[in-house]
Amino acid sequence: MKVLVIGSGGREHAIVWKVKKSRWVNKVYCAPGNGGISSLAVCVPIQADDIDNLLKFAQENEIDLTIVGPEGPLSEGIVDRFEERGLRIFGPTKAAARLESSKSYAKMIMERYNIPTAKYVTFKSPEEARKYIIETGGPLVVKVDGLASGKGAFPCEDELEALEAVNLIASGAFKEAGSKVLIEEYLVGEEASVLAFSDGKNVIPLESAQDHKRALDDDKGLNTGGMGAYSPAPVVTEDLASRIYDEILVPTIKGMKAEGHPYKGILYAGLMITEEGPKVIEYNCRFGDPEIQAVIPRLATDIIKPILACCDGSLDKVKLRWSRNSSVCVVMASGGYPGKYTRGHPITGLEKVEKMDNTIVFHAGTRIDEEGRTVTSGGRVLGITALGPNIKETIRSAYKGVKKVEFKDAFYRTDIGKKALFHIDGM
Ligand code: AMP
Ligand code: GLY
Repeated sequence: MKVLVIGSGGREHAIVWKVKKSRWVNKVYCAPGNGGISSLAVCVPIQADDIDNLLKFAQENEIDLTIVGPEGPLSEGIVDRFEERGLRIFGPTKAAARLESSKSYAKMIMERYNIPTAKYVTFKSPEEARKYIIETGGPLVVKVDGLASGKGAFPCEDELEALEAVNLIASGAFKEAGSKVLIEEYLVGEEASVLAFSDGKNVIPLESAQDHKRALDDDKGLNTGGMGAYSPAPVVTEDLASRIYDEILVPTIKGMKAEGHPYKGILYAGLMITEEGPKVIEYNCRFGDPEIQAVIPRLATDIIKPILACCDGSLDKVKLRWSRNSSVCVVMASGGYPGKYTRGHPITGLEKVEKMDNTIVFHAGTRIDEEGRTVTSGGRVLGITALGPNIKETIRSAYKGVKKVEFKDAFYRTDIGKKALFHIDGM
């Protein structure tokens, strides 16, 4: 089979790494890919949002399966366009991807199908939002309705912070994505990510993971795309996993089918584990990044099997097998991220990590420069992922890898996985 993976981050490197191991796959392309992906796949210089040229490429090269990494092309309807031409593609249609691309749509679905989530109100005018904030008081969470690369949610301790968030959105900082504002109840608990394969009818959850959204240790600093992850997340006990399946994943898939928009692909539920049980913070319509950098290396089953079953509607025939190992992924980022940062800095020490057992380097923002060096080219640069028998040792291995890699102004969190230890050791 010839497979095309769309995207250029750590998620896509992890997908390509796993697809490459499939016994059914003999050629992998990635559009546009990155410095690390180019050692595993043929990188094609087409951007992830250039649907016309991706379609042309897939037809001309007789691609058997396309796997879409990021949400952008999904929300623009890449799946609809490929399927119209009879091309097999993994991901939800434009209508189904609204679970991620419109928070108000996602809330409507959760309300209609009794899926637990934070209470919320939607506003079209900033004046009304301000009035509501002053009347209700904090803490509150202010969110833009549309896609904002993980940067459109503002958990606010008090009214003042909430008003500032509304002002920022009203100033046009999020363009069209900010044309509607949601104000939500502030949920208290621990977060976890549960992803699932779905073929529109059946659901198979992947093992749980926990992301680290804030830029700095102890969940301080700005929200980012994610600074590290580990899997499994001990907060998701077996009991909780079955509640998440029964109360969240199954009703979402049934609901989308009932709406006439069957959901195929990866359904990502970003959850808050509250005292009352799991509640949905957000849905994403694709593999989470960096979660998947921690989850995919633990998947023992050939990934092509569930992916094809999602496309063909036969997921009920698939069982996933998992390694008992824990995994930890530490993201190394460019100094300044998620704000301004510089690019083009040579990265050294990668070959030392590649020699380590049970450690994988997933590239996110890297490219190979004219002199053949691997240099930084994005905010999140690398995900150093280790596998090990327990989370404590695995954290140590991941940081051992991180310490071997250097580039100018590199920064990373030093507490990835700490919350898991709390569950295990009560530390
Ligand atoms: P989102 O963009 O909706 O995924 O939100 C980004 C982050 O903001 C989440 O991972 C949470 O840490 C936080 N957050 C979002 N919604 C809520 C909420 N209702 N209560 C508490 N924290 C939230
Ligand atoms: N890690 C969060 C996301 O992929 O959106």
